Amino acid sequence: MCGIVGYIGPRQAADVLLSGLARLEYRGYDSAGIVVNGEQPDLEVRKTEGKLANLRQLLADRPVQGKSGIGHTRWATHGPPNEVNAHPHLDCSGKIVVVHNGIIENFAQLRTQLVSSGHRFVSDTDSEVIAHLIEHYLHHVADQDRPSERDFLQAVTQTIMRLEGAYALAIMHRDFPDMLVAARKDSPLIIGHGVGENIIASDIPAVLEYTHEVVVLHDGELALVHADDLEVFNLSLERLEPELMDIEWDLADTEKGEYEDFMLKEIYEQPRALRDTLRGRMADDGTLQLSELAMSDDEIRELRHVYLIACGTSYHAGRIAKILIERWAQLSVDVVASSEFRYGSPLIDEHTLIVAITQSGETTDTMAGVTEAHLKRARVIGITNVLGSRITREADGILYTVAGPEIGVAATKTFTTQIAAVTVLALKLAQVRGTLPQAEIEALFAELSRVPDLVERVLADTDAIVAAAALFEGVDSSLFLGRGIGVPVAMEGALKLKEISYIHAEAYPAGEMKHGPIALITSRVPVVAVATSSATHEKVLSNVAETQARDARVLLVGTQGDQKLAALADHVIYVPEVSELLSPIVSVVPLQLLAYHVTKARGCNPDMPRNLAKSVTVE
Ligand code: G6P
Repeated sequence: MCGIVGYIGPRQAADVLLSGLARLEYRGYDSAGIVVNGEQPDLEVRKTEGKLANLRQLLADRPVQGKSGIGHTRWATHGPPNEVNAHPHLDCSGKIVVVHNGIIENFAQLRTQLVSSGHRFVSDTDSEVIAHLIEHYLHHVADQDRPSERDFLQAVTQTIMRLEGAYALAIMHRDFPDMLVAARKDSPLIIGHGVGENIIASDIPAVLEYTHEVVVLHDGELALVHADDLEVFNLSLERLEPELMDIEWDLADTEKGEYEDFMLKEIYEQPRALRDTLRGRMADDGTLQLSELAMSDDEIRELRHVYLIACGTSYHAGRIAKILIERWAQLSVDVVASSEFRYGSPLIDEHTLIVAITQSGETTDTMAGVTEAHLKRARVIGITNVLGSRITREADGILYTVAGPEIGVAATKTFTTQIAAVTVLALKLAQVRGTLPQAEIEALFAELSRVPDLVERVLADTDAIVAAAALFEGVDSSLFLGRGIGVPVAMEGALKLKEISYIHAEAYPAGEMKHGPIALITSRVPVVAVATSSATHEKVLSNVAETQARDARVLLVGTQGDQKLAALADHVIYVPEVSELLSPIVSVVPLQLLAYHVTKARGCNPDMPRNLAKSVTVE
């Protein structure tokens, strides 16, 4: 949700900022802008409405030279996505410039105060108050004409202490071309630490071209960044030891390579991502290895309830986890959308486990749920794909998915690896609690380890999927059905389709359809049903027949060898046979591809769907 980047070093800052923003564009693409401190020094601002391509064109027409600068790609919250509201934002003197990701909740009050003391605002954004507030404090701490670096840092600190809400900030002063300031609270920010250069960014992919060494800035910290030096402070301006991390991701992981779109590339990466996520999870003696949970066996045995909290696609992984944990570990489980959990009345005590699933590790709603759970003394396990993300610092235990960077806004490989992770977690809980025979645990894990091969088989022949996409030509609405563990698969299939193709898609438990959604069925509302082998297989088929009796055109995802399906549907996509509870990964992959092909046929961009952002750091 908004991407920010900053550069200081020997290269032309504009080039580094543009390439960084290109890797962060998944975070927002309403407008974009950069500012570079030129040789004079002089702040050169370039900003435009729309995607980064517009900014690139503007910079080709009106280039800027300079070795330090900051940039931003926006997902609008306050004020429409036009050029005036695009970042960076300046103070009245035109010397202080800011890019911001997050929301300043008390901006209206701050703005009123600043306006009454003579500040002139030009945009509708909450972010602009930050530049003016720094100007205000700088005026108080220093001789305005000759502030020192230290004065500037102090003014930034005083400003930050007035801000309520979430922020990741990169800040420059015209008179200090050799220095950038970065700060964060509740919005992600890292600093790539290169040789003679430093790069501030919202996310790791933006710095990988220059360095694999990263400083993770924590909440309430700020950094003074020079080309060859980097200091981290708390808000009392006491120096802290920076936390350095080595990032193993390859630059190639963040590029499309031979693929037309990131989403397609990431769908095809799933066998590798699943293997990496499952690697080393079972020891030779059959014990599941999840030491990162940081829970003793006694604590696991004493658990009485589990809450799974998550948003979007991760919520669907939670719905799958509920079924597995209840069945195998015999623990009762609630799955709650994080935005609801926080304001509900969850019954939590020290025997409650909270599992927060978030691929980015930064989603504000989910992180608010984690804070709430801690206040009530529950233990929190995070499942995330991003090393050093906020959840890795705030949860008591962490389980990583090893999907690699996911750039497409629609989650694909992070979803299937989340399913793999929660499957191992459910088996582990069952193993420690003694609720499933060891032989069965080993057999299930062995079968799970073969799932990446099955996904490979699905990906090897996609003709039926491409053909089925024709069902959605000229269609405005569709229905996705499933039963049992097929329900969250249908939910994810529907979410994928609606978020990237803009065709309305409603997911429903197949047996519930007759209580309402069946009224929507016509020949123009295709039905997609997850009809793989399961205990309720025949029931699903009966529900499908009910839609056909009302002229629906039907696509089934079924199990290879299930001869009868062809006669029951307009299209069938066959997937390899797998146990029912391990089937979601295998059956969701064709639905991801279906959404992709429908979207391409409609001429839409699957990587950057309108109004969405990959990482949502607002409530
Ligand atoms: C956004 C993304 C979704 C994602 C959700 C949760 O809405 O567009 O793809 O599933 O956030 O993100 P998280 O990082 O918490 O899994």
